This record gives sequence, structure tokens and C-alpha cells, in this order.
Amino acid sequence: MNLRHFTSLLDLSSEEFRHIIHRAIALKNNRDPHYQPLKGQVLAMIFEKSSTRTRISFEAGMVHFGGSALFLSPRDTQLGRGEPLHDSAKVISSMVDCIMLRTDKHDTVTTFAQYSSVPVINGLTDQQHPCQLLADMQTYFEFRGDIKGKTVTWIGDGNNMCHSYIHAAMLLDFTLNIACPHDYQPLPSFIEAAGTHVKLFDTALEAARNSDLCVTDVWASMGQEEEQNLREVAFKNYQINATIMSAANNDALFMHCLPAHRGEEVTADIIDGPQSVIFAEAENRLHAQKALLEFLLCKKEA
Ligand code: CP
Ligand code: NVA
Repeated sequence: MNLRHFTSLLDLSSEEFRHIIHRAIALKNNRDPHYQPLKGQVLAMIFEKSSTRTRISFEAGMVHFGGSALFLSPRDTQLGRGEPLHDSAKVISSMVDCIMLRTDKHDTVTTFAQYSSVPVINGLTDQQHPCQLLADMQTYFEFRGDIKGKTVTWIGDGNNMCHSYIHAAMLLDFTLNIACPHDYQPLPSFIEAAGTHVKLFDTALEAARNSDLCVTDVWASMGQEEEQNLREVAFKNYQINATIMSAANNDALFMHCLPAHRGEEVTADIIDGPQSVIFAEAENRLHAQKALLEFLLCKKEA
């Protein structure tokens, strides 16, 4: 089997993305404790940033599949003391079956993949968060069916989540309306690559019109904590609230990757209201990543 990595959603074809979504739904609905395709296999999870959902979902998913997961923080490994990435990637991949990496620089994940002899999964970088999109898209499919031809609205920071939404729009063929403050737009290279799948708007209200799904994320991501006050000012008109949701379609869903700051990027009535599917979205990290692990590691897909 060819070595496959998941450093970005664009490592998948459209068909592979849809296959993973459908497998995730099947694994969720028909959990078979005897199905242990990764028996004896080990996932190394390198976390250079905090995590609740990513860590627990990967660890639980490996156990469900008969394998195990190692949690490695910079304090635990020589990576934290500056051992070169290429040496670390070669050594770690000689001992485990898969590596998940959460780090700042996207280049760290792609360099790791270059020198690893086993699949490398991007568990979040400053640039992309592709695992979250597997779960978000699974959630949309579960609640509303295929997202092809639909309109999704991104409001807030043009960050890692926004970039992965752009990739999802390209692969699953939906339109992504984006409204971000002038100085916090997604990278131009991402917008250009997406062509007509992405539409930029000046205001949150315009971006939300006729939308089937409204999504946001924190105004200050991990590592940007010191910019919190500055960002609160810059993003004050980029909040998802009842006015914004009422511009979207009546059956529009609300998603947020979590953790969330109620009263900042989203009001409590929306994130805790009937259109919000945040807890299904969070749970689906488990099912979607089991489908991803199966896709990357199993010679014969079930
Ligand atoms: N959404 C997400 O990735 O959550 P964690 O930071 O808790 O892993
Ligand atoms: N944009 C957020 C996502 C957290 C899951 C961050 O990078 O901190």
C-alpha cells in the first residue's frame, strides 16, 4: 500500500473525502466491539499545543480499534530540546504505525511527513485544521444530507479553521461565504486556489444571507492570547448572533470547533440554541478520525 499522509484536506480526493464521511457515519451507527482493524498498532500523538477533543478522540479511537496511543508533549521528548525534525520523524516512525502532530508551523507537519515511514496526520497547525473538517462535514451530512451545492458562511478570523473550510468547499463543491475583518483575511493563496467556491463579503450580515450553515471560531487562537484585547476591538462586528442567524436560511445549522467564548465570536442564545450542533460536531471527531485511521492504515478497507 502506498504511504498516505493527512497533512491537509487536499491530500484527499473528493471521492476519498466522501468515503471517509460515509465510513464515519457507519462506524458511529454500527459500533462493533469485535471490529479491531488496528489490533497491536500504535499511534504517537505529539502535542506542542493544548487539546481536549483531538487528544481524547484519537486515543479513544485507537483503543476502539484494538490499538493504543502515546501522548507526547514537548516536555517528554527530545523534540522539545531541539532534536532535528528529520531525525525525530525517522526514529519515531520506525517504532509506531502512525504519527499525529499538533504544532504551530505547518511546515513542521509537512517536514515530518517527508521523513516519516508511516502516515502523518495534521492534528492542527496555525494554517490548517483538517481533522476538524472531517467531523464538521460528517455532522452536516448527518443532519442535512450532502453539502454539494449548499452555501456555508464563515464569520470571524481567516484562520486555520477558515483555511480548512476553503479546502472543504473545493473538495465537496459548496460555496463558502467569508466575512473577516480587513486585517484578518484568509491567505490570498487559499482564496485564489478556491476560485468560485469562495466569496468574500465586507459584513457578517451580507455573508450570512441564504446560508445553510454558519460557522465561526475564537477571535484569538492558541498562541495569540496576548492579542486578545486588540482582536476584541477588530472583531466586534464579526459575531454570530440572532440577527446574523436570521439572515441565513430557516433551517441553517450553527457549528463551532470549540473551545468557544460565549459573548465574543458567538452569543450564548445561538451556540446553546436549537440550530447549534456543536456537541454532535465534537463527538464526530471520534468517528471521523476512526474512519481516517482506517483509511490510512488498513490495507483492505472495510
Ligand atoms: N476543536 C479542537 O480541535 O479541540 P481541541 O483543541 O480540544 O483538540
Ligand atoms: N483556531 C483555533 C482552533 C482550536 C481548535 C486555534 O488554533 O486555537
